[in-house]
Amino acid sequence: MPPSTRPVNAPVAIALKTAARQGERCRILIGQGLLNRAADALLRPGQRVLVVTDHGVPASMHALLVDGLLRLDAHVASITIKPTERAKSLRTLELILDAACEHRLERGDLIIALGGGIITDVAGFAAATYRRGVRVVQCPSTLLAMVDASVGGKTGVNLTTSGGALLKNMAGAFHQPARVVIDTALLESLSDRQLRSGLAECLKHALISGGLGDKLLWTWTQASLHALLAHDPRALAALIARNVRVKARVVAGDERELAPPRKGGRMLLNLGHTFAHAIETVPGLSWPGPPAPGLASPVRAPAPKLVRGPLTHGEAVGLGLLAAARLSRAMRLCEPALPDQVRDALTRAGLPTALHGLPDASEILDRMRHDKKAAAGKLRLILPVRACRAVVREDVPENLVLAAIDAWRA
Ligand SMILES: NC(=O)c1ccc[n+]([C@@H]2O[C@H](COP(=O)([O-])OP(=O)(O)OC[C@H]3O[C@@H](n4cnc5c(N)ncnc54)[C@H](O)[C@@H]3O)[C@@H](O)[C@H]2O)c1
Repeated sequence: MPPSTRPVNAPVAIALKTAARQGERCRILIGQGLLNRAADALLRPGQRVLVVTDHGVPASMHALLVDGLLRLDAHVASITIKPTERAKSLRTLELILDAACEHRLERGDLIIALGGGIITDVAGFAAATYRRGVRVVQCPSTLLAMVDASVGGKTGVNLTTSGGALLKNMAGAFHQPARVVIDTALLESLSDRQLRSGLAECLKHALISGGLGDKLLWTWTQASLHALLAHDPRALAALIARNVRVKARVVAGDERELAPPRKGGRMLLNLGHTFAHAIETVPGLSWPGPPAPGLASPVRAPAPKLVRGPLTHGEAVGLGLLAAARLSRAMRLCEPALPDQVRDALTRAGLPTALHGLPDASEILDRMRHDKKAAAGKLRLILPVRACRAVVREDVPENLVLAAIDAWRA
C-alpha cells in the first residue's frame, strides 16, 4: 500500500542497521498515538528513566509518555529545558547530567528525549556521555526533528567564542538511539512556522534523493506542499516516512561520516548547512514573511509582513539550499533552471528567500570558514547537481561564494 493511502494510525517501522550497536537495528516507528508505548520492551520493572523535554511540548503529550513508563513500573523523573541555540550548550548538558545523577540513573537505564532538534541533540549527547553511555530513545516533537535530527545518532551542543559568537554543534558524539518513536500527533500543536522550518530539511533530502532510492521525492514534495502546509495527517505521515528512509539509507552507508569527499556519503546531508550555520545566529535580520492564508492572488494581496530574526534552523537551511543551487549553476554543475526551482519551492513552502540587514558578505564567508566541515581552513561545500544528486566540492572560487551570499539581499 503506498504510504499516502495507509491508515494514519498504522505504525510504519523502518530499520536502520548501524555498526555502532553491534549490527543491531535501530527501529524507527512512525504513527499516531505511539508515545504511550515509547519504551515498551526496553525496560524491566524498577528501572529508571530521565525524560528530557522542552517547554513547547504540550503537557498532555509529556503525560502520555510518562503514563506509559509508569505502566512498565519505571521510576521516572523529568527535566524541562527552554530550547534555544544559546541553551544548546555545555551548561544545559551539565544540568541534564546532574539530573541523571540526582535520579541515580545506572548504565542499563534510559534517557528519553521528547522535543525538537535542540532537545534530541543535547539529550542525546548527555546519553552518550553519562557513565560513558546509556541508552537513549528519541521522541522527536517537531517536523524537523522527526525527519532529520532524531535519526542517525549525531548528538551535540554549540560552543561560544570569547567574542560571544555561537559555533554550531562544535562538541558532540555519535550515539545511536535504541529506538526512535515518531508520534505524529505531536505535530497537531506545532506552529505553522515550525512546520515550514521542517519542510526545508525535507527539500534538502529531496535534492539528494536521486541516488537514494526515491527519485520522485522532489516532485512529490512540491506537489504535496499545499496538503502539507494544511497539516494533512496522511500527507505528513508519508512525508516523514519517505524522508526518514532517505536519511536512514545515507546513515547506514556512512554512519560516522568517514566517506571520502569524492564519494559524498553522510556529508551530503550537509547540503546548505555551511551557509545555514553562518547566518542562523546573525543578529538583526528580517525578511518578508509568507502571504496570509487565502491571499494567494497576487492582484490584491498586501505586501507580506516582515518577520524579524533570529532565523529558525530550517529557515537558514532553506536559504543555504538556494545559495548552494546558485553556486552550482555558476559552476555549471546543474541545470540552469535549478536555482529558480529551489526559490519557487521555498516561496511556496512559506520559507524566506531574501534577507534585510545582512552584514558584509565577507563576514558571512568568515563565519563559514569556522564551520566544522572546513578542512585545513578550506571551505568544503555540498552542491546540488543534475537528477537530484549532490557532490562535495573543495574548489569553489571565493568570489562565487560571495556572490551567492549577496544574492540573498532583499
Ligand atoms: N543531529 C542532527 O542530525 C540534526 C539534524 C538537523 C538539525 N539538528 C539540530 O536541530 C535543531 C533545530 O531543531 P528544531 O527545528 O526542532 O528546533 P527546536 O528544538 O528549537 O524546536 C522549535 C520550537 O518548537 C517548539 N516545539 C517543539 N515541539 C513542539 C510541539 N509538539 N508543539 C508545539 N511546539 C513545539 C519548541 O519549544 C521550540 O520553540 C538545531 O539545533 C539543529 O542544529 C540536528
